[in-house]
Amino acid sequence: MLALIIGASRGLGLGLAEEYLQRGWDVIGTVRPGTEPGLLHALARRQHGLSLAEADVTVPETFAGLDDAVGGRPLDLLFVVAGISNGPDESIATLTDDAFTRIMLTNALGPMRAVQALAPLVAKPDGVIAVMTSGLGSVANNTSGAWAGYRASKAALNMMLRSYAGETKEDPRAMLAVDPGWVRTDMGGPNATLDVQTSARGMVDAIAARAGTSGGHFVDYQNKDVAW
Ligand SMILES: NC(=O)c1ccc[n+]([C@@H]2O[C@H](COP(=O)([O-])OP(=O)(O)OC[C@H]3O[C@@H](n4cnc5c(N)ncnc54)[C@H](OP(=O)(O)O)[C@@H]3O)[C@@H](O)[C@H]2O)c1
Repeated sequence: MLALIIGASRGLGLGLAEEYLQRGWDVIGTVRPGTEPGLLHALARRQHGLSLAEADVTVPETFAGLDDAVGGRPLDLLFVVAGISNGPDESIATLTDDAFTRIMLTNALGPMRAVQALAPLVAKPDGVIAVMTSGLGSVANNTSGAWAGYRASKAALNMMLRSYAGETKEDPRAMLAVDPGWVRTDMGGPNATLDVQTSARGMVDAIAARAGTSGGHFVDYQNKDVAW
């Protein structure tokens, strides 16, 4: 089994790489071009089955090199994990044009460009295409506000994934927007409720359970459906 994880240098991407390796999968994990050797490189030295490649979701030209990294093997999973946040205090009043453009490109358009470019590598009917969204991206569940740009970017990501699934209706592959829960990473902060291992384990189980379920699904790390 082979997974390509885009954005695996730290946090949830790194945790997912580790979880898949422990389950005997081969993993290709990406870091941004020019990244100094770090946690993913250290994991590759410890664990058999992990290879590294480079991609920046805001630079589509970087996706071309991933064909070589995959080397003609069919992927069982493409998971675009990369994302940024500007924190909870971001509001309509404070969000600058640049910050809004950057978060929309990094969290919505960039990941979906990666999905579009790399989906052909998931050349199995029970292969899974996944993007990392957030519970904060649910329009239906948003009753509290805050995180203005981040929420908008993840809602846009969800909408684009659903559009993509709708435009490829005959496609048997599952297309998942995955909510990892609130997790203790650089982004989630120290007060988050989950550790990386718990979230990663849950997401891996949920992805396995959803393989073969054609169409777009918004699912959390406990394999529960989330309202769009
Ligand atoms: N932690 C949470 O509670 C939580 C909750 C809901 C959703 N999420 C989502 O989960 C994903 C991972 O978050 P995390 O908590 O692991 O955050 P993190 O620790 O801040 O890690 C973010 C990851 O995304 C990568 N990245 C950022 N911009 C990128 C770009 N332009 N191209 C490629 N990679 C890029 C980073 O690479 P560098 O190391 O090069 O910066 C890093 O690997 C994000 O999409 C986030 O929105 C997290």
